[in-house]
Amino acid sequence: MDFGSFETLAIETSGGVATVTVNRPEALNALSGKVVEELARVCEVLNQLGGTGTKPATGTGSAGDDGAWPVRGVILTGAGGKAFVAGADIREMTSMNAEQAEFYARSMHAVTLALEAVPVPVIACVDGFALGGGCELALAADFIYASERAQFGQPEVNLGLVPGFGGSVRLQRRVGLGMARELIYTARRIDAHEAHRLGLVNRVFPTREELLAAAAATIREIATKAPTAVALSKRSINQATGRPTAEGLDIEARTFRAAFGTQDMKEGTAAFVEKRTANFPGR
Ligand code: HXC
Repeated sequence: MDFGSFETLAIETSGGVATVTVNRPEALNALSGKVVEELARVCEVLNQLGGTGTKPATGTGSAGDDGAWPVRGVILTGAGGKAFVAGADIREMTSMNAEQAEFYARSMHAVTLALEAVPVPVIACVDGFALGGGCELALAADFIYASERAQFGQPEVNLGLVPGFGGSVRLQRRVGLGMARELIYTARRIDAHEAHRLGLVNRVFPTREELLAAAAATIREIATKAPTAVALSKRSINQATGRPTAEGLDIEARTFRAAFGTQDMKEGTAAFVEKRTANFPGR
């Protein structure tokens, strides 16, 4: 999978795991306009997985080769050992007018939506600060793993700002409305264990190495499953989130139907009946 070259990101692919690292350690990986632009480009490439952009049910190629699914999961992290991402770039924001600020927010909204559309799981690995836009970027991943050093927060009100990269929408869905309000109004920072208790973080690890190894292991575990089924599950969950129950169930029924059109479903059910391991074709 050819990602191209980047100024502010480092990308490494190994064994079906793509690791995307925001690489501006001198600014604690703050999301400058350039980072946002480059994240958008990465998402565009990742959304080609499955062979048909965001329509995994009709993708072609094989899960086991480097055909339609050369990447089976994405790790999103930050360089330098001190921060995941310390937020929007505050220096850049000082020279923006209101119109440019809205464009900045909307550009990052597009990145978060594109990340949610990526048809393989995205795990945010937070080692150090995930503040403001950094916490919001992590919230756009499927789930978050953290090291003991992780610190989360939405400190925008300290700057006379409000969450602008999706925090007012996604944080309440993850931790509940009351807690999201408290975190946003107080700008309080929480550590990895509190974030875990709140459901913001799935798992906490002592070191960065263990954090990244665990995320890669989870991706490898998921890679033994039907790629189209994982992709469709992700799509169904994202589309149903925040909708009334009946609408969510309608989305689920239509997605369930789509799964019935896949070779993966035929292979998975046949393998069960024949008491053998499934060999999913990935389409
Ligand atoms: C630009 C940043 C930055 C940021 C840190 N730096 N955060 N630059 N934007 N968000 C830079 C510092 O200016 C400094 O550069 C270098 O990174 C190291 O940071 P220090 O402050 O010296 O480190 P430390 O004392 O350890 O403090 C770490 C910190 C602090 C607690 C994370 O840097 C901090 O509070 N950063 C801002 C966090 C924040 O408020 N984020 C939310 C932003 S608003 P120099 O050149 O001096 O070495 C937001 C809104 C999103 O995200 C929506 C927008 C539409």
